[in-house]
Amino acid sequence: MIERIDALRAEGERAFASAGSGADLEAVRVRFLGRKSDLTLLLRGLKDLPPDERAAVGARANEARVHLEGCLAAAEARLGASAVSGPARDVTLPGRRPRVGRRHLIASVLEEIETIFHGLGFSIAQGPDVENDWHAFTALNIPEGHPARAATDTFYLSPGACMRPQTSSVQIRVMEAQPPPVRIICPGRVYRNEAVDATHHFEFHQVEGLYVDRDVSLADLKGILDRFLKEFFGAETVIRFAPSYYPFVEPGASVDIRCFFCGGKGCNVCGPLSGGWLEVLGAGMVHPNVFRAVGYDPEVWTGYAFGVGVERLIMLRHGVPDIRMFYQNDCRVLRQF
Ligand code: PHE
Repeated sequence: MIERIDALRAEGERAFASAGSGADLEAVRVRFLGRKSDLTLLLRGLKDLPPDERAAVGARANEARVHLEGCLAAAEARLGASAVSGPARDVTLPGRRPRVGRRHLIASVLEEIETIFHGLGFSIAQGPDVENDWHAFTALNIPEGHPARAATDTFYLSPGACMRPQTSSVQIRVMEAQPPPVRIICPGRVYRNEAVDATHHFEFHQVEGLYVDRDVSLADLKGILDRFLKEFFGAETVIRFAPSYYPFVEPGASVDIRCFFCGGKGCNVCGPLSGGWLEVLGAGMVHPNVFRAVGYDPEVWTGYAFGVGVERLIMLRHGVPDIRMFYQNDCRVLRQF
């Protein structure tokens, strides 16, 4: 037994002396001084020895242990602090900033649009994403069987309930709830059963605008949209109205801005057929049938409405090439804004 202890002590001494790295040293420590090392087991087994042997063996084993602990300390000193605490730290390196979360681009642009219209006297209205037939279509002058029902590919939850394909339904809810005058915008999600590609998604955002008062004219509509688009895209923005059809307005217009990539010469952003214009929203004067549906007298009240596609505005202003990027939530994309 004594010889076995002496052999372990000598072997351990050599091993500690030749350990060349912190990892080496740790392995040697475990092997000779660890909880399952021969020496530890031997000390633990002392109680089973005959009493006359116990004292001598115990003393020898303890001595060996103390000696090897000394070897460990010496080896640690020899290998330096790195042996105990891992790789040396370079305290002169610049620190790493913790990453800070931020608002999604869509959320911050929605807020920006709200701020612009707030400054123009509009308040914010909300409506439900799930709509019934009346608010989504009928009251918007799209009666049953009207071809315009097929124009927006709508997701139906049941025959009378759909995911709203446009925020225009909120116009109806607001007018039903309050007498004129009305001056609101409604930011929100809309849903369409579209094939997804770089410029189409089945879910996106619109901001609807509605102004109802006496003697509201097309000039007011042009003025407010010119103001908005100049605030959003910059003071040099040029806009134009082109006739367009939406059942809930008359006359209806699509509103374009001169392409700010090519200055109106035609490029691959505005497309070869656009003549250098980018369509950014739909608008028009509220149709008398819409006023009738909500109980406003069309002989007394006049109004305009418009609807802006938020992702489209952002894609143009920030050069986002693919609408899907807004919903993939890839941090490398989100971090850029
Ligand atoms: N709702 C129309 C669309 O989704 C936009 C629009 C709103 C047009 C209001 C005219 C008036 O395309």
